[in-house]
Formats: sequence, structure tokens, C-alpha cells
Amino acid sequence: MKQTFLLLAMLTLGSAQAQKNKPMNKEQEIEQKVDALLAKMTLEEKVGQMNQYNGFWDVTGPSPKEGNAALKYEHLRKGWVGSMLTVRGVKEVRAVQKIAVEETRLGIPLIIGFDVIHGYKTLSPIPLAEAASWDMEAIQQSATTAASEAAASGINWTFGPNVDISRDARWGRVMEGAGEDPFLGSKVAEARVKGFQGSNRSDLASPLTIAACAKHFAGYGFAEAGRDYNTVDMGNATLYNTVLPPFKAAKEAGVRTFMNSFNILNGVPATGNSFLQRDILKGKWGFDGFVITDWASVREMITHGFAEDRAEATVKAVNAGADMDMESYAYVNELVQLVNEGKVDIALVDDAVRRILRVKYELGLFDDPYKYCDEKREKATIGSKANNEAVLDMAKKSIVLLKNDNQLLPLKKKGQKIALIGALAANKNSPLGSWRIASDDNTAISVLEGMQQYKGNELVYEKGADLTIGKTTFLDELVFNTADRSGFEAAKKAAKEADVVVMVLGEHGFQSGEGRSRTHLDLPGLQQELLEEIYKINPNIVLVLNNGRPLALPWAAENIPAIVEAWHLGTQTGNAVAQVLYGDYNPSGKLPMSFPRNVGQVPIYYNQHSTGRPIDSDNNVFWSHYSDAEKTPQFAFGHGLSYTTFKYGTVQLNKKEYSKGEPVKVSVDITNTGNYDGKEVVQLYIRDIAASLSRPVKELKGFEMVSLKKGETKTVTFTLTDKELGFYNNEGEYLVEPGTFKVFVGTSSDNVQETTFKLR
Ligand code: NOJ
Repeated sequence: MKQTFLLLAMLTLGSAQAQKNKPMNKEQEIEQKVDALLAKMTLEEKVGQMNQYNGFWDVTGPSPKEGNAALKYEHLRKGWVGSMLTVRGVKEVRAVQKIAVEETRLGIPLIIGFDVIHGYKTLSPIPLAEAASWDMEAIQQSATTAASEAAASGINWTFGPNVDISRDARWGRVMEGAGEDPFLGSKVAEARVKGFQGSNRSDLASPLTIAACAKHFAGYGFAEAGRDYNTVDMGNATLYNTVLPPFKAAKEAGVRTFMNSFNILNGVPATGNSFLQRDILKGKWGFDGFVITDWASVREMITHGFAEDRAEATVKAVNAGADMDMESYAYVNELVQLVNEGKVDIALVDDAVRRILRVKYELGLFDDPYKYCDEKREKATIGSKANNEAVLDMAKKSIVLLKNDNQLLPLKKKGQKIALIGALAANKNSPLGSWRIASDDNTAISVLEGMQQYKGNELVYEKGADLTIGKTTFLDELVFNTADRSGFEAAKKAAKEADVVVMVLGEHGFQSGEGRSRTHLDLPGLQQELLEEIYKINPNIVLVLNNGRPLALPWAAENIPAIVEAWHLGTQTGNAVAQVLYGDYNPSGKLPMSFPRNVGQVPIYYNQHSTGRPIDSDNNVFWSHYSDAEKTPQFAFGHGLSYTTFKYGTVQLNKKEYSKGEPVKVSVDITNTGNYDGKEVVQLYIRDIAASLSRPVKELKGFEMVSLKKGETKTVTFTLTDKELGFYNNEGEYLVEPGTFKVFVGTSSDNVQETTFKLR
């Protein structure tokens, strides 16, 4: 007994000794450094780390009265600034970093944030478009490309990815997310985080990666009536099962920062919401990075009616777990006094600062604060050939073929007369999309330029009508041309003489994005009228859509034989569109959001719940429907055609009954039955038939992209585990319940075959 005790004691001592002698891993080392630095900091310096200022011009929000450059310089010198946003370019970043490092007492480097949302200077498609590729490798690569350009420009932190799920096409910010589905949204979130940061935490130290930020936490995509910044009210079932999963996926992929959101959620502004930030994010999920507020959102808690003044807003935000204040001037002005008065616990300040310093150490900023400031790299990377090739690849993959009657597409390469019509066809600015602060205006390849590369046909371009009047910018409301039809006649003449008419119509790139909600989802200006006029003359029309959100185009969907969804595809737009139209690239994109028939259907989404009266069983009006329109979408989630055709075999299960935890194997054969090689995104959905909470009629739980040569057949096998079969209850607990499940496999959410199994 005594001997055993001695042995145990020796072992314990020995292992403690070994522990002591064991070299620290990188993370432990960073923790030690953070603690040591924190111990040296004054309260003012700590609060300084929690303060972020915009660069010396105002870009993304209303400028606060105090917002002047002189004050910001003064605060930088005092060490009262931990981060800057929207400062860009090696020269600029070096200048502000130099002040922080050389002129402040402790020389703590700044972390430099920027909205790298769909590329930096070489622009990739808007995120909604990228999500339409369903190609996670490509999406990750696109974020890697964007990160490398931003990092070469002095930036080390992006405010992306936006992982807000939204079912409301009126909301302009759907262009920034991955659409309506939490499963697809989670995969995209993971791909983007890994693309920006690298796959491991240690990759953050590379000068080619930047820290990512999952935003907007949380519920922002559910703004009432699709009006940006509006109230969000939702039950826990939607919060846990629809809104939070992509955030959790981002956290699991290692995202180092979160941004909270402008909205109130069930009465509590996200910035002052400790249920979201402390209980869920930092508590349940164990997130150890930091939370940045959205622009001035601490101050906006006063206008929300949640705080009397800036001091109260500060108390509420810090208590709730918002670590860094973006442009509210709240923490920097109020927090020192609040701590001194005992109104905010210093432990909360220490926790916030620890988180911020941790990320700065992980980025390697303390080893070399100028590591992102290399002029040579800046010159070689930004706008490089390789980056242009990368965004072109992503752009082609993002295109969705919505309709192709009579195989009007692909276009023949020779001997055709083609009329290209629409102001957007020649526009070199609009295709760049909404978030493109670092890019130069008019730098996209237009569709006209792309099509001009194909010389075998005769191409005639006519704009038909201007889309907008006056300036088009990130800050201003657009004005549309609703009166000048002077170009109609020339366009009609071109259409009359053409074999095929290609019309590029849709939204201007600045029509979606932040602050750009719409109540109409139609073609703005005179475009619908132009489309119908041309159709009367030559119905052989290929409609190429440019848009940052689902549009409701029932007339076009019914009458126009070929429709190509080309979003806002970034710098290489024209090349991507032309290659798809001419069949040099066979489209494989699928919609990440349902396209409604009219605005009255919105919010419309495939993973809805069943009502008690889903169908017309009694032949009267008392069932869940509209009297004046179908209740189905115009184009469903997951829809997208190819130039070839695919045939699905029968869906097979390896068993009919499974016990909990046992993997469910679902397989199906796919054959390319058409005349082109092509790719198909095979989609798997489930329905939990009866559960303790009603479950959606379909939920995406797997997808795979298969490449098939003409005539080739492949078997696709999916595995469903507890991770896919369960759901969150209203208390946030994850449950997998026994019972019957339906499994659907198919080419879109509305074109599937089904089978069932039992879970015991
Ligand atoms: C406000 C937007 O909501 C947010 O997404 C963005 O990152 C910040 N402005 C900074 O530009």
C-alpha cells in the first residue's frame, strides 16, 4: 500500500517535472505573452485595445461628429487605438502602424481590418453567386486569393465571411451571404474561413493569410419586411436550427473573430446581447477569439431605446461580451471612468483585451508589425495574372442555367448574327458588385468585351436604354431611367436582323448590398418594357441576368426560352459569361436561394414547415395557399441546368432500419445521358416525419458534385449520421429522435425521388 502510494507520488512528481521541462506549444507561449503584456498595461491602454477607428475618410457608415483625423492621430499616439479599418495599401498601413509601434508606450501593433467580401482588388463573384457554385474547393480558393491580395496591401483581418442566412430577397445583403439554407451555408462558411485564414490556427502567422470574421451575430438576415437594419423577432427553433449553424461551423473552422449585428433580436440589440455573445458564443461554443461590434452599434443602442446614453450603452455592450468598439467612440470615451466607478468589472476588460492581443500574437504582429507591408509583394500580387485566372474560374462556376428551351444554348460559334442588347452588357462597373472599395471603377470585363472574343459570328451591340441616370456609387441611392426610350428603335432593328438576341438585364451592382432593400424584385427602369418589345420582334432570346438577389420575373420565366443567371461576377464577368454562352464551359451552378414568382410570396424557402393543411384535400379554399398565385417558387432552391442531361437511378439504402448512431448509407447512380461532358450537383434531403418539434418538409443534408463524361455513369454514396439526423430543441439541446425519416435525392429541391427508413 505504502509502496503503491510512493510510486504514485513519484509518477505524479515525475510527470509534473516532465510537464515543466516540456517545451510549450505555440498556443501556451502566446497565452504567457498575453498575460505578461496585460500585466504591464494601464487601464487606458487596455481600453485603447478595445477601440477601433475607421481610416481617415468615411466609407461605410454615418460619420460621427467627433470623427476627425486629428483626433484619431492623437488617440493613436496615446495608445488608445487597437485597430483601424479601411486603411489600405502598404504605404498607408505602414504609416499608421509606425505610430502605434514606435510612438506609443508599449508599442502594441494595430490589427488592420477591411471588408474583403468578394475579392480585394481583383474581384470575384458576389458571395451569393459563389455559393451557387456549390463547389467548396473553389470557394475556399477564392477566399485564399482575396486574402493574399488584401494581405499584400497591408491588411490582416477581413470582415468576412458574412454567414447570415436569409429567406428574404428584398434584403439587399443577401448578395453577401450563401443564401437560405443552413447546411449549404455552414459548408460555405467553413470554406471561406479556411480560405482566408488557412486550415490551422498556425496558418494565421503566414503573411499570405488574414484573420476572418463571422458576421453578423446574429439574426440580421431576418430583418422584418427585408428592410435593412430592421427589427428581428424569431423563436428559438429558427435561431438554433437555421441562423446559428453557419456561425457554429465558422467557429469550428477556427474563425478568430465575430462581428455582432445592427438588429435587435427579440428586443435586445445584438451588441448588448449576452445570451448570444456570452452564453452561446463564448460559453457553450468556447470561442476564444474576439467580438467586434458592427459600425457604431454601441451608440445605436441608444436609438434602439435600449440605453439612455453612451455610458449606459458601453456598460451593456461590455457586459454582453462585445470586445472591440467599431466607430462608436463609446469605449474610448466612457470605459475608463466606468471601470473606475465600479460600473464595469475590470475582469471583463481584461478578458476582452486578452482576446484581442491573442489574435494579434497569432497573426505574428508582435514578431513583425510590418509583415504585411512589403511593397514588392504588393506589386507582384495585386491584380496578378494568377488572381485573374482564379476569379475567372470562380465566375464560370457561379453561373446558373435557369432555362434552356429548344437547346438555344450553347450558341453556335460560326455564321450567326447576334444582337447583344442592354446597357448592362457594356457596363464595366456594375459587374464588380457592391463591396469593391479597393478596386478601380470600370475595371470589369464587360459581357460585350467577352463576346467580342468570339469572332466567328457577327455581333451587333445596342444598349436599348440606359439603366441609371447620374452617379452610381457605394454611398448614394441610384436613380433609374424610366423615360428615355431613344435607344429602343436601334435595338429593335438589331433584333430583327439577328438569328439570336442576347439581352443582359437586371440590377446594377450597387443595387444590392448594405442599405439596399427593395420592395420590387423586378427589372428596374425600362428593362422589362424593352424585353417585351424585343420579344415581339424576335423571340429567340437568351436572357442573361445580372443581379445581387433573387428576382421575380414571371413573364420572362414563361416566355423567354433561355435564361442564364450571371449575378455580379466581378472582374472577369464578360469572359465567364461568354465562355458559358458559347459552351466552352458547361454550367453546373445551382440556386442557393429560391426565386419567387412575385414579391408577395417572400419570404419563400424550400425548407419550410408543413402547415396542418398543406394540400387542397376538400376542394375548397380552406388550405394553405394563395388565391392569386401558385405557392411554389418560380425557380426552386437547388435548381440549375446543364447543357447535358443527367439520369438518376433508383435511390438505394443499405438497410431499412437503423439503430441510433449507425451510419445510414444512401446511394444512387447518375448517368450523363446528353451530348456534353458535364458536372452535376447531386443533392440529398431528409424529412423527420414526426418529432418533438415539427421539422421542415425537406432539409438539405448532403451534396456532391460529380463530373461525368458523355455516357458515363457514377455511383454517389452519402452517409447520414447523428450529425445530420438531429435538430435543436427550443432550449438549444441537440436531439436525435427515433422514428421514420424520408430521404430524397435529386437534381434540385423540387425534383427528387424518395425513400424511407426507420431509426430505432
Ligand atoms: C457595416 C456593415 O454592416 C459591416 O458588415 C461592415 O463590415 C462594417 N460596416 C465595416 O465596413
